[in-house]
Amino acid sequence: MIGSANGRRIGITGLGTHVPERVYTNADLEEFVDTTDEWIVERTGIHERRFAEQHEALTDIAFPAAVQALEAAAADPASIDLIIVATVTPDMMFPTSSAILADRLGMPDAAAYDLLAGCTGFMYGIAQAYAMLSSGLSRRALVVGGDVLSKILDWHDRSTLVLFGDGAGAVVLEAVADGGFLGFELGADGAGGENLWLPGSGSRHFEDADRLVKMNGREVFKFATRVMVSSAEKILQECGRTVDEVDVYVPHQANKRIIDHAAGKLGIPEEKIVVNVDRYGNTSSGSIPLALADARADGRLRPGELVLMTGMGAGLTWGSALIEWTEGKAA
Ligand SMILES: CC(C)(COP(=O)(O)OP(=O)(O)OC[C@H]1O[C@@H](n2cnc3c(N)ncnc32)[C@H](O)[C@@H]1OP(=O)(O)O)[C@@H](O)C(=O)NCCC(=O)NCCS
Repeated sequence: MIGSANGRRIGITGLGTHVPERVYTNADLEEFVDTTDEWIVERTGIHERRFAEQHEALTDIAFPAAVQALEAAAADPASIDLIIVATVTPDMMFPTSSAILADRLGMPDAAAYDLLAGCTGFMYGIAQAYAMLSSGLSRRALVVGGDVLSKILDWHDRSTLVLFGDGAGAVVLEAVADGGFLGFELGADGAGGENLWLPGSGSRHFEDADRLVKMNGREVFKFATRVMVSSAEKILQECGRTVDEVDVYVPHQANKRIIDHAAGKLGIPEEKIVVNVDRYGNTSSGSIPLALADARADGRLRPGELVLMTGMGAGLTWGSALIEWTEGKAA
């Protein structure tokens, strides 16, 4: 699916993020699996990640992110009429985490649903909210991307444990006077689904007690390096923009080598690339909003700047969006 924006201008007017307190360094993981700091840093660029406490579930880390996003947008929670939570680790299958959050945040009029698109969930979520807003069905939406993958990781599998972390981000979307979303490109290749999967998590193998992530890292790596480039190229072309016009590049934070490869192929210079995989690992649907917040904090993300975001993940899925940054600029 690909399309450039037409009609009403919709942008992000508030952004918030949250990560659990507890830091696990690479050395900490040596307690659980046969690995080394040197291997992890060299193959992934990750130095540390955050893992939730036993009692913390998705909505516990998404809630503070949502509160921050609403405050940044100066939006009354009750004015939100749509909440989408993109996650593969909801508190439970139902009630949805979006309904739980809507209640906790005070959003009695919001349509609420969860969205499953692996690590690309945040990109799918903002595209859906954009469509609802630009059609006039929604007036103000909250999109949350977040995961607590530590709950579904195999703590004895070194090939997955070292890659992931927990975290969440949230954005408010609404009409803006200038700028906003220019377009989206989303896709999926189910044929590669078994390269990153949770086979015992649903109705297919419901008697299977194994509910832990399984991954063929090499195949996912090949997929990622391909789609991170092709998706970005497609959306730039669709929107009539060139890579030189991009001010801030926000790739999904899976592996520093994947980011470097994509940026190199696209021709994006280092100073425009946002990287925080070293501190958070791969936080799945939390990754892109966490990276946006870092770019804002280091002064790189300012209103009017052209931002290219590209995600990829389980499904296998991918997605890109182009936006002129509009935080704090509601119409
Ligand atoms: C997982 C990944 C880091 C592995 O890196 P790699 O350079 O491809 O490494 P390989 O898979 O070729 O493994 C090389 C060796 O390191 C070993 N290894 C794997 N994980 C290890 C770890 N944490 N510590 C030490 N050794 C490890 C492997 O067992 C393998 O050993 P072998 O050659 O004796 O079989 C890389 O493939 C990757 O990032 N893939 C994408 C994963 C991803 O992003 N998933 C989420 C998408 S949203």
